[in-house]
Amino acid sequence: MTTVRLDSTAPASIDTDALIIGIHSGPDGPRPASGAEGLDEALGGKLAATLGALGVKGKPGEIAKFPTFGALPAPVVVAVGLGDAPAGDLDPETLRRAAGAAVRALAGTARAAVALPAGTGGETGAVAVGALLGAYDFTRYRTNGDRPAPVAELTVLSGAEGGAEALARAEVLAASVTLVRDLVNTPPSDLWPARFAEIAEETGTEAGLSVEVLDEKALREGGYGGIVAVGQGSARPPRLVRLAYSHPEADKTLAFVGKGITFDSGGLSLKPAAAMDWMKSDMGGAGAVFGALLAIARLGLKVNAVGYLCLAENMPSGTAQRPSDVFTSYSGKTVEVLDTDAEGRLVLIDGIGRALEDAPDVIVDVATLTGAQIVALGWRTAGVMSNDDALRDEVVRAAADQGEAAWGMPLPEELRKGLDSAVADIANLQPERWGSMLAAGIFLKEFVPDGTRWAHIDMAGPGFNKGEAHGYTPKGGTGAITRTLVGLAERYAR
Ligand code: BES
Ligand code: MN
Ligand code: ZN
Repeated sequence: MTTVRLDSTAPASIDTDALIIGIHSGPDGPRPASGAEGLDEALGGKLAATLGALGVKGKPGEIAKFPTFGALPAPVVVAVGLGDAPAGDLDPETLRRAAGAAVRALAGTARAAVALPAGTGGETGAVAVGALLGAYDFTRYRTNGDRPAPVAELTVLSGAEGGAEALARAEVLAASVTLVRDLVNTPPSDLWPARFAEIAEETGTEAGLSVEVLDEKALREGGYGGIVAVGQGSARPPRLVRLAYSHPEADKTLAFVGKGITFDSGGLSLKPAAAMDWMKSDMGGAGAVFGALLAIARLGLKVNAVGYLCLAENMPSGTAQRPSDVFTSYSGKTVEVLDTDAEGRLVLIDGIGRALEDAPDVIVDVATLTGAQIVALGWRTAGVMSNDDALRDEVVRAAADQGEAAWGMPLPEELRKGLDSAVADIANLQPERWGSMLAAGIFLKEFVPDGTRWAHIDMAGPGFNKGEAHGYTPKGGTGAITRTLVGLAERYAR
């Protein structure tokens, strides 16, 4: 794991293998951002000419490397574009992405110093989070060692007030996101419900969480009909994990419920092969909840938080649930399963039902729930639905504060009748495909009593990056929404 430290040494004198600086774009051409002071002088006044010769524009995401030929201790400078922001008005997400892109471009380099704008604690934290997340790589299954290793030692150049606290928070956030990415990337042969529960128990206990694991017997006896129904087709039975953190001075309790399908084959309503090969990522919601609880505990936030990981493997077999089966959920409501591929909502309602017993001020569930989320909002923007408009907006703001894209979506009442079942209280699927992200939200809402503030985050797209790496986001597992949940908890902390 990459380490990070703070240093207020000038960029031109820091002993490192590569120096990262920011470049703004502008009408008068590219200009070095703050943080790079003294560099031009050390380079004999040649910085502008060098950038010009390299065709650097300063556009966000742009990367240019050039050698320093002994003019300073760092043999290489990496210039990363920051776009055209007036001084002191830089969006923290621009900084996170720039730091991430620059560190990614330095794979194979042992040490890097980041001389991006970090005049405040907030900026220092953003630079550190972006740099640490940009240094992510998943190497567990590689044997040939021919991939350049990520930067191992990062130094953030900053003398900002509050910089040390911001750096410590950044390390906690990055550790959680890194763990979630690893879990998402781990193949389902090595991550099944009981294994995930074991990891949660070990790591959670270490972080100071109290951890309770319900196995398949406890789930059956406890009336968790949804988790049991989804898990019954797999040779590897389901689990419900409860992670709890409390602070003596807290006056608010948050409950997070995560969809943790360690592999979603669709069940008997089998997915086509092309839609299945990345369904190891269908536990990303539970990953985010787990990562967030760890971070909340490690940061010692003055809030109470409980997290539920609804873990099951959705498989077809002789013991699998059948389309048209009916089960009784934890709430007592019966559900007709018309499509076994709409399984996430079935495990979530039991998690939500159990979370209600904690009498939380707010329940937020997080799930890679519908392909319709990707149709509606694309790969990178999560959909946020709620039975409370103010809470929905609060979740969207909490996401934006962390640079995570999320957008409020409605829960139109008229979609409820599409979920009428001919035999049970409700069906798990509406007959038509239009608006399925919202219909899934409507389904969940039926299991939330009036007066309970609840929000639902559909992160089907953001949870897994099928495209190329960008900014601080790698290919594969992203750890999306982990930081949003921590940010939300910070809002509720005293
Ligand atoms: N896990 C999938 C949703 C998903 C799709 C996540 C693509 C990430 C990327 C979910 O369990 C599912 O299969 N949803 C179905 C629901 C449908 C049967 C109502 C879908 O979206 O097609
Ligand atoms: Mn499914
Ligand atoms: Zn699923």
